[in-house]
Amino acid sequence: MTKKLKKIDSRLAGLIKKEIERQKFTIDLIPSEAIAPNEVLEVLGSPLINKYSEGGIGRRYYPGNKYIDKIEDLAKKRAKEVFGLGKNWEVNVQLLSGTPANLAVYFGLCNPRDKIMGMSLFSGGHLSHGHPVSLSGKIFNSVTYNSGEDGYLDFDHIEKIAKKYKPKIIISGFSAYPRKVNFRKFYQIAKKVNAYHMADISHIAGLVAAGVHPSPFRYADIVTTTCHKTLNGPRAAIIFYRKELTGKIDKAVFPGIQGGPHNNKVAAIALSLKIAKTAAFKNTMKQIVRNARALAEELRKYGFNLITNGTDTHLMLVDLRNKNISGGDAEKMLEKAGILVNRNSIFIDRKPYNPSGIRPGTVSVSFRKMKEKEMRKIANWIADIIDKKRNPTEVRKEVVELCKKFPLPY
Ligand SMILES: Cc1ncc(COP(=O)(O)O)c(C=O)c1O
Repeated sequence: MTKKLKKIDSRLAGLIKKEIERQKFTIDLIPSEAIAPNEVLEVLGSPLINKYSEGGIGRRYYPGNKYIDKIEDLAKKRAKEVFGLGKNWEVNVQLLSGTPANLAVYFGLCNPRDKIMGMSLFSGGHLSHGHPVSLSGKIFNSVTYNSGEDGYLDFDHIEKIAKKYKPKIIISGFSAYPRKVNFRKFYQIAKKVNAYHMADISHIAGLVAAGVHPSPFRYADIVTTTCHKTLNGPRAAIIFYRKELTGKIDKAVFPGIQGGPHNNKVAAIALSLKIAKTAAFKNTMKQIVRNARALAEELRKYGFNLITNGTDTHLMLVDLRNKNISGGDAEKMLEKAGILVNRNSIFIDRKPYNPSGIRPGTVSVSFRKMKEKEMRKIANWIADIIDKKRNPTEVRKEVVELCKKFPLPY
């Protein structure tokens, strides 16, 4: 925090300082949150934010975009490199976030009221995959599939729904699915009903980039991703699309649903993709999965039921029904101890506000360099608080000590 900011707006500077302190001394198990490096923060706070550059490279609606063009080109090239893509793929890096990225795909490929098909929110899909409260469900005719009762994707069921409704787009990719996704099966079903297959890899993009999770690119027509989850970059998103869709997607992004791109974000995407190619990033992705497995195994030892009994990824879904506590109450109790875990629906739920599960993940703690030993300690605290009703404020002191040993970079 600069002295100047404190002088101009001491109230705001104080609140930012408090939020940074909160981050430093809490264990963040929210699987969609990461710890963007200081250099990414530096680029986000750069004067690139001052520039308007509606349009694309070499065809802007404003002058003065010589360097912005080069920065956007760098981001696009790196996006393709990180995921090993050749000439048959194009990329748009102007998306402000994941929800507009998904909307741009629907607007680019569908007409209003056309059918899109994604996983229901209660089974682990995202709001932007056609939920009725989202524009994706208000403008398009949304049909949903569920996970099987064992928590795994049920491809017979998915095929049945696809054949019944013949959607224009079938969406794979989820917010709360703990297992590897078989993108080939989605592709095969999509081809049978002449649908596009869109894979939303927002949660797992970093794992895919590091080769820790199977890549969807061979089996998808469009791939969307946020940049701020496992990819550990700015709050922004990318759309990859097959070359034959050129025109449709870019036009849907601008002028369809967005105005000028946020050039600071585009540049921060370029930087985070460079970092994603390093050995250090790949090692962190591997550790994220090892940590998730360790946390899952330890939670199971304490009698917690996990959907699919475990995880292959960065997150797990804990079914709390046998612990006689709701996801919302567990979230509140753990927050008092400085352990952030978000409540999450499991397949029997129909009310997202106070569902029966929680969704711990290991992204942030792994970027903090915690390992399996710390995961076992965290599981022990979760069990102490939820099962043994240990006073969370007592646990809080121990949490602060652990956080001090694994400092944040800022
Ligand atoms: C699978 C998936 N897609 C899209 C999004 C939307 O991202 P954003 O919050 O950036 O709009 C999320 C957010 O959590 C997500 O989990």
